[in-house]
Amino acid sequence: MRTSNRESQAPESTLDQPRAESGSILQRRAAPGASRLFEVPRSTSNLVPPCADRLRAYMDPIFDPEEGEASIVALMEHRFAAFHDVPHCVAYANGFWSLVSAIRALALPGCDEIVMPSLTYRRLADVAAWAGLRPRFCEVDGDSLTASVATMEPCISPRTALILPAHPIVGVLDAAGLTAMARHHRVPILFDAVESVYEVLPEGRIGRFGDAEVFSLHASKLLNGFEGGYVTTQDTQLAARLRAARDHGRGPGGLNARLSGLHAAAALAALDEVEAQVEHNRAIYLAYRRHFAGITGLAVRTFDETTRSSFKNILVEIDPDFWPLTRDDTVRALNAEGALARAYYAPPLHRKPMAYPHVPADLPLTDALAARFLLMPCGHFVSETDVAVIAGLMRRFARGRAA
Ligand SMILES: Cc1ncc(COP(=O)(O)O)c(C=O)c1O
Repeated sequence: MRTSNRESQAPESTLDQPRAESGSILQRRAAPGASRLFEVPRSTSNLVPPCADRLRAYMDPIFDPEEGEASIVALMEHRFAAFHDVPHCVAYANGFWSLVSAIRALALPGCDEIVMPSLTYRRLADVAAWAGLRPRFCEVDGDSLTASVATMEPCISPRTALILPAHPIVGVLDAAGLTAMARHHRVPILFDAVESVYEVLPEGRIGRFGDAEVFSLHASKLLNGFEGGYVTTQDTQLAARLRAARDHGRGPGGLNARLSGLHAAAALAALDEVEAQVEHNRAIYLAYRRHFAGITGLAVRTFDETTRSSFKNILVEIDPDFWPLTRDDTVRALNAEGALARAYYAPPLHRKPMAYPHVPADLPLTDALAARFLLMPCGHFVSETDVAVIAGLMRRFARGRAA
């Protein structure tokens, strides 16, 4: 499809809003389609810049011969363990290697399958392959859009080495129920909690569940270390194994996956400022709710406001009976205007070509859900004005004026 040309765009009230062009020099980049609605693209990433003075202060020990960068990483681990209310945090170079290393440390010997959802992070099956296991994909729950006891339990067998549920990007999964299920079957459980770093369940902070939980400090995430990841666990022996494994092969199956002091300093600065992030995200979420209300065929997925929530990701469900475009055409049309919305977890993992062993899966609900959701621009550089502009664009699409 083609978006309408600029001259013929109707002067809708929402489209009359000034174009927000704020942003740091890092964020500005050449806009090939100069006349698009957002000259500076609005992405689905957080990209929050840390306070420069704070960052510099955390970096200082790098130049101190007695302290060195290891002390920054140790401080980061200490502060993040406290944040998650858990005894141990082991920092890694990124979330990917945190996952691989934790899987290798936890997997039951002699078993070769890892149970995971298919509607999740696009690299999760690659992680399993690096850890030497075959992914067995489970269905998701239609309400939470994530794995549940009901969807994971049927996939557990004597071949199961590990269970790997992943939190959804809006809301949380039933970490306590899944942990109890894993204990019942005597199978280890690791949570990919990258998208729920700030969340709390009635049973405790995310970070305390299962055998371990994994987080990412990538620039797109709520807590921006620019790169980085970490594992939290209550298991002292596991923490020691993970520390050894990341550090130049001290210990079985080791690799060099250490977090640098620079990234640890950025992560610390981000943690100091997280509450301001959440406040901004909540305002953006409420703006999406407000501006999208009444657009037939679109529904903003709601956060449970009675629990602690980061409000970071904005997920919009398309009802194909009422919305005139396919999800993919909607993404293309938004992208053409510089609103870098993305298809939410599409294709699902079981539909992707995989050059490694996996268990073929038939997952009709996952297939249906993977065609319905849009991840909308969000994070630090998206303003409430931007949301109004995006909603105006959507209304125009609804009236067929962009086709
Ligand atoms: C759910 C999930 N798990 C794991 C990762 C991997 O983290 P990293 O990018 O730090 O390797 C990501 C990254 O986007 C993610 O979204």
